Amino acid sequence: THVVLESCIRCKYTDCVDVCPVDCFREGQNFLAIDPDECIDCAVCIPECPVNAIVPEEDVPGNMQHMIKLNADLAKKWPSITKRKGALPDADDWKDRTDKLSELIR
Ligand code: F3S
Repeated sequence: THVVLESCIRCKYTDCVDVCPVDCFREGQNFLAIDPDECIDCAVCIPECPVNAIVPEEDVPGNMQHMIKLNADLAKKWPSITKRKGALPDADDWKDRTDKLSELIR
């Protein structure tokens, strides 16, 4: 599967969802998760994300391993998103921030 990392939090640009051939993105208030049961590892979403938030599971850095289970857990409870929409209003203020996990609205 592919995994959405913390960079997405409070940005949610949503460019990724338009290109997904299997509609595997799930939407929370300020983050998207990938459903690992649906993702086919096509990787077309990777270059679409302005903050490079999406990586293949095998490339998730050691200090971000928790994001793998987090995507899986959130994907189970969040609804599908299949069309791009506007980014969050202050996305550009948050795009270069790190350690945003405490900002995640589950
Ligand atoms: Fe998030 Fe990037 Fe998609 S910020 S919503 S993973 S385009």
